[in-house]
Amino acid sequence: MTTRIGILTAGSDCPGLNAAIRAIGKAAQNDSQTELIAFQDGFLGLIHDQSMQPALSGILTLGGTTLGTSREQPQRVSVKGQMQDLTDAAIATYRRHKLDVLICLGGVETQSTALHLSRNGLNVMTLPKGIDNDLVMTDTTIGYDTALSTATEAIDRLHSTAYSHHRIILVEILGRRCGWLTLGAGIAGGADVIILPEIPYDIERITAAIMERNEENKRFSIIAVSEGGISKDTVEFFERTKNVNHQVRKGAEAEQVDRQLNQIEGRMTGNTIFLANQLEKSTGLQTRITILGHLLRGGAPSATDRVLATDLGTACVRFLRQGHTGVMVGTQGGHIVPVPLDQVAGKYKIIAPDHPYIQSARQVGTNFGDEG
Ligand code: F6P
Repeated sequence: MTTRIGILTAGSDCPGLNAAIRAIGKAAQNDSQTELIAFQDGFLGLIHDQSMQPALSGILTLGGTTLGTSREQPQRVSVKGQMQDLTDAAIATYRRHKLDVLICLGGVETQSTALHLSRNGLNVMTLPKGIDNDLVMTDTTIGYDTALSTATEAIDRLHSTAYSHHRIILVEILGRRCGWLTLGAGIAGGADVIILPEIPYDIERITAAIMERNEENKRFSIIAVSEGGISKDTVEFFERTKNVNHQVRKGAEAEQVDRQLNQIEGRMTGNTIFLANQLEKSTGLQTRITILGHLLRGGAPSATDRVLATDLGTACVRFLRQGHTGVMVGTQGGHIVPVPLDQVAGKYKIIAPDHPYIQSARQVGTNFGDEG
């Protein structure tokens, strides 16, 4: 009997997605009769029934996703500015294609959507992806290793110009809620200061660290700043504003303000520029900024990501044959394991303040803009 497997990539793209698509497709077709149906542009393809036959050959080394992607979720689709729940349309497509399973490659939001569809009666499995490495219940995610190398290379290159000109250079690295990429690249690239969303910074601490370097005749500094890096002052401001809003506003209005503030917190664009201006004033040193942005999502996957994607993709098919459904296929301590979606959905893998990486970085003199 033919197994009918639906597949899609959702959320942000990253290197290694094509390697995973190839692994799933080839493993499934090699071990039994399988029909692979790919949906284009994430869940939009499922909602609007836009399917295609995915290419499986010649894609192992390609960055991005050959299926296309989008951030839309069936339970919340913007139609002419109005949010609509199009879950029924997504389910109808699944049924029309007589799918046995839908495999979704995605990040935190995709896990939530997968759980939602699974609770609505579909067989869904997922793979963890994303350069942020912010999914829980998996040691790592597809794409993280490649982005880590790219960010590290950028820091390496910035070092030579920073020391030549005796400047402070801030390098902004993607990651709104979790700073894994900044932490990893900051350690690997030997950044002098690392700013993470998890550790609100104090401008005075950073200034002191830079001035101390200068006194030691180290006349340049590299600061790795997470996109979601946030100052203590800003955190306090948000807290105060939230309280004020709650005092003066009632019910739905207060909730809406809270939601907006949370959105701002998650999208602190311009923070690095603000920090750079502050530091130039407080240290009197020339300061420059490099925002790596979406460059970090580009390029061919690293060898490690290709291996990870191949391992996870083939394991996914194996677990499918064993009857697993409603799971994310992750890695834990070197083992590939199926994790129930409700243990993953909507959760971010926040870096603990005493994480071994942070401890090691502190031990080699890295400053986190805090009192630690
Ligand atoms: O979730 C991955 C990520 O690259 C984050 O690091 C970044 O904050 C966000 O996506 C950017 O999203 P977009 O591509 O929608 O601008």
